[in-house]
Amino acid sequence: MPDVVIPPPDPAGLPAPAWLLQILLVFTFILHVLAMNLLVGGTVIMAVSLWRGKNSPFCAELANRLSKALPVTMSLTITLGVAPLLFVQVLYGQAFYTASVLMAWPWLSVVALVLLAYYGLYLVQFRPDWLGKWVTPIAWVSAVFILLVGLLFTHNATLNLAPAKWAQMYAQSASGLHLNWSEPTLIPRYLHFMVAAFAVAGLGIMLLASLYRKADPTWAEEAVKYGARWFVIATILQFAVGLWFLFSLPQKVMMSFLGGNALDTILLWAGVALAVVALLLVQRSALLATGAVTLTIALMAIVRHRIRQMYLGEHLNVNTLPVNPQWGMFVIFAVLLVIGLGVVGWMVWKFARAGSPQQTPAG
Ligand code: HEM
Repeated sequence: MPDVVIPPPDPAGLPAPAWLLQILLVFTFILHVLAMNLLVGGTVIMAVSLWRGKNSPFCAELANRLSKALPVTMSLTITLGVAPLLFVQVLYGQAFYTASVLMAWPWLSVVALVLLAYYGLYLVQFRPDWLGKWVTPIAWVSAVFILLVGLLFTHNATLNLAPAKWAQMYAQSASGLHLNWSEPTLIPRYLHFMVAAFAVAGLGIMLLASLYRKADPTWAEEAVKYGARWFVIATILQFAVGLWFLFSLPQKVMMSFLGGNALDTILLWAGVALAVVALLLVQRSALLATGAVTLTIALMAIVRHRIRQMYLGEHLNVNTLPVNPQWGMFVIFAVLLVIGLGVVGWMVWKFARAGSPQQTPAG
């Protein structure tokens, strides 16, 4: 059996040039990650706050206010995950389907985990009295399921990048029960995503606090400090986790980001520098720090895409796939994407206003 076996590409060809699909993949992935970070960090922080809320009125109120935002954040994470899912299937279907078949059962469990976590968040929001003392455990179950979903995505994403393992794994067992534990980047890569989630959720709490500045100034002031603390601690921790991830990459890939390739090096270190800028700005303005962190995430998403290109190399170079453009379809997609993002933006704005002091009395 040859070392590397890759399924043939879709004979229909790509429906648009590979460069355009890659830009859209990375762009929509950034949107997914922003929502996902708020969801992951927000759910864990809500669970912690529910637990601490027995002795701290501030934490009890934070949990209450987060519980109203999280089901919406969950739906945004899922909806904004669909678009990169489509692009990854179109561009990297040969890798994506192979990895998904190899880890079929754990991969399918994502649907159940997402649904159960979603139900849990709804129960915590709408039925806290009904749940009684179970409200905190249910919040923790949702948090753990969401963390597990993230881990399964990292298993899938890293298995996508390992064509040399596929044939051997399949020959070993076709049961669809494989995972990618032997991958050295698995844990640091996963932690890199999860630690970022706490930093972003910290900023999210600071922004949430600004909605309550007039109606509940004491709470808002404490929430700003609390959110900033999550952001600062997670970001400082991220420097260590990020370096661990970088040094766990194969030598050739790692060196690209350490001077081997000028553009890759600039991309990575500009992202790191912007995170430092965000740390310096966070006490002065949550909004400016959020802007800097959004840019960091955008640059890191490009870095992640470059890592994928380097791992797959000539085994799967999407720029060489046949293209059979369907511009009509593409225009419909682009128009709907813009309308969809506009609607999502409008909904978030409405949601923020509904939670703002004018409509919600303090307390
Ligand atoms: C609800 C909980 C979710 C969490 C915590 C989550 C988390 C993550 C994480 C951590 C990654 C990065 C994996 C890596 O590169 O190592 C990721 C990637 C991805 N997620 Fe999600 N995700 C969630 C839901 C979803 C859903 C429901 C969809 C699809 C409808 C989705 C679509 C994607 C796609 C397509 C990628 C990979 C894109 C690419 O390879 O470029 N996610 N997700």
